[in-house]
Amino acid sequence: MATQDVHGLALSTASPQTAQAFNTTVSSYLANRADAPLRLRELLAVDPAFAPGHLLKGYFSMLSFNLASVPAAHTALDNARRLSAGGTRREQAHVAALAHWVAGDVDATLRAWEGILDEHPLDVLAFRLHHFLAFWYGRPEVMAKQADATFGQWAPELAGWPALLACRCFAHEEMGNYALAEAAGREAIALAPGDLWAAHGVAHVLEMQGRREEGIAWLATLEPHWEGGNNLKHHLWWHRGLYHFERREFAEVLALYDRRFRDLASPLTQIQPDLYIDVQNAASMLFRLERQGVDVADRWGELADKAEARIGDCLSAFTLPHWMMALTAAGRLDAAERMLEGMRAFAAAGVGTAAPLVRDTALPICEALMARAKGEPERACDLMRPALAGMYRLGGSHAQQDVLEQLFLDCAVRARRTGDIDALLARVSSRHPVPPRQRVGYANAVSRPN
Ligand SMILES: [Fe+2]
Repeated sequence: MATQDVHGLALSTASPQTAQAFNTTVSSYLANRADAPLRLRELLAVDPAFAPGHLLKGYFSMLSFNLASVPAAHTALDNARRLSAGGTRREQAHVAALAHWVAGDVDATLRAWEGILDEHPLDVLAFRLHHFLAFWYGRPEVMAKQADATFGQWAPELAGWPALLACRCFAHEEMGNYALAEAAGREAIALAPGDLWAAHGVAHVLEMQGRREEGIAWLATLEPHWEGGNNLKHHLWWHRGLYHFERREFAEVLALYDRRFRDLASPLTQIQPDLYIDVQNAASMLFRLERQGVDVADRWGELADKAEARIGDCLSAFTLPHWMMALTAAGRLDAAERMLEGMRAFAAAGVGTAAPLVRDTALPICEALMARAKGEPERACDLMRPALAGMYRLGGSHAQQDVLEQLFLDCAVRARRTGDIDALLARVSSRHPVPPRQRVGYANAVSRPN
């Protein structure tokens, strides 16, 4: 057993210590624990010649959606490729998946993991990474299909079963299958109360169904189990902020912002002050609050600083409008123009799956933000309208994409474009179970004077 992974799949090492260090690292990743990078360092120190260790290093580097981490991913890929020459076929297939990801070919990456799972349904690493990347490239149907397939092939006694249930929960929530999603998520929490992804999936169901009091209680009850969790904790507190936002408890939202999901002094934030998910949480909440006339003081400034430092980095297409929100809200239009230029250059280079996404969707949305900042809401509507249909491919959940829908609505209201307002309200009505008149970001537009 010693040289197998948690599900009995062979690892190309004779060392029980190496296998244990590998399994500990993967388990930490699966559980969204902040110590995963530390566990990986220990694994690489225990056995620098173990190819899967370098493979994990490459995967972890790519998970950050940060251009600055790509060189480390390249190095890890080279090491993994060299060291896996005598390894198992499964390990070599993982190396091929990493190579596709580093090259920016998301479809080939997903297919590579699907190929591994066809042969080895118990490969928990391939499953979890597939779920993650399919989500961030707007493919909920792919997430759900794989979660269902894997669910049928695993058994409850397997390690990682709650993590699988959590993925099934979130995938089906994004597909609008709320009853199935909630049951899976609650089952996961019953088995593993500290599973952040399961807490998150159910939080989404409660958000989409407008069950705000339940949502606050759900997260408050589970919060004591989050010690040692990674930045997903911040996102859960952001979800709690969304419930309070919908109750118009804006002071509570700001308190959560400062003390929980954008606490600049917290160790998690200090380690990665510009992590994509944290930036999305922060910018999207400030944007929502400002639309309601809430004074957010100087909170945009530090986000704008980070945005300037990431100009030209388009690895997370969904984060780009959030960077742009920060730059325009902080009045840094020169930097905002440079960000647009960086996006145009990235799109023109045409490398990888993200290039057409940036060209056709993220860029028009960011140009719309610029036009809005310049007091040209009509132009903003015209720029963003063609991007609406494919917007979900930017990745992010329905709850996260909502801020972009609010952006278009805001431009349409400022421009007094009745057709655009009605089209947007019809769109959100079809995508969200709670009618717009009962949602804070939309109610004013519903009741607008003719
Ligand atoms: Fe979420």
